[in-house]
Amino acid sequence: KSLKNYNTFGVDVLAKYFAEVFSVEELIEILKNHQPTTDNRQPLILGGGSNILFTKDFDGLVIQLNLKGISEEIINENEVLVTAKAGENWHELVQYCLAKNYGGLENLSLIPGNVGTSPMQNIGAYGVEIKDSFVSCKVLNLKTLEVETFAKEKCDFGYRDSIFKKEGKGKYVILEVTFKLTTKNHLIKTEYGAIKVELEQMGIENPTIQDVSKAVIAIRESKLPNPKIIGNAGSFFKNPTISKDNYLELKEKFETIPGFPNENGIKVPAGWLIEQCGWKGKQIGNVASHKDQSLVIINATGKATGKEIFNFSQMIIDSVLEKFGILLEREVNII
Ligand code: EPU
Repeated sequence: KSLKNYNTFGVDVLAKYFAEVFSVEELIEILKNHQPTTDNRQPLILGGGSNILFTKDFDGLVIQLNLKGISEEIINENEVLVTAKAGENWHELVQYCLAKNYGGLENLSLIPGNVGTSPMQNIGAYGVEIKDSFVSCKVLNLKTLEVETFAKEKCDFGYRDSIFKKEGKGKYVILEVTFKLTTKNHLIKTEYGAIKVELEQMGIENPTIQDVSKAVIAIRESKLPNPKIIGNAGSFFKNPTISKDNYLELKEKFETIPGFPNENGIKVPAGWLIEQCGWKGKQIGNVASHKDQSLVIINATGKATGKEIFNFSQMIIDSVLEKFGILLEREVNII
């Protein structure tokens, strides 16, 4: 089965086996009948396919998780628990919450992908990460085929990181996620510069959560390519954090280098580093760095192979390392 329509890069690779599942029972049934042997790979669970790069055919079973449903429980005057199944589209969940005036996810509007993969890399944008409203998730343990609940602490969230990318990698399938959201007295988060600017341009002084969502959507649409039109997986690299000393050294040589202090040092926008190396908008073969946001690698012609995209990303890593001495780390999962 071709996976072209199941990854947002639109890379055309084949899966040896493919199954789409609509319930946890179905998922368990399929996993029971699929015992990976040594020459056979562990099954690959696909959500929205928005953070994955296939560099070759997949010699195993790919499972498309299509679990649907959203439920909610008011817990007090000001808070509600919203639980969404893994196969729900992320942005549709955000819109559902905004329609009910539930606050907490609005800054995460328009992020591609499904609910089930959102905890994996602790998706984040415009000053908010899902860990800020995450309560717990239910997972299927692939070894025991039992359902377990992971509370927030157990998920060990970090910047674009969680237990599911570390010790838990390949061991669990996320089935549903529960968030704690506000029903009134919403916390409006507009510290991220771009949101402030956008709201000003919209002429809004006291934004509602719905306004914040609109601003985020406008910003994203203005500089991030729509994966339905041009294949991409959002930011291809993480923003690196370097030591303060290292930053000050670089600042002497490159006066305009941006830097944002965090608990581990100074975070430098990878997009800036990549642009400075001349990559912004540059195309080689079928692959390019996006003209409005160099951190995003695109399948410019729609015909790129995963290998080509991977090689392109390696050239970017090499040139940033040479010019700045900073090693960029890929954010996208390479298969
Ligand atoms: N910049 C450049 N040139 C570029 C791109 C960025 O100079 O081509 C510099 C500018 O100085 C700009 C700064 O980078 O002010 C920050 O750019 P932007 O606001 O676009 O954010 P980002 O750091 O590039 C991160 C996330 C995005 C998220 C935005 C907004 C990562 C890896 N990426 O990008 O997440 O939407 O912040 O919060 O942390 C994603 O993960 O797929 C993603 C799109």
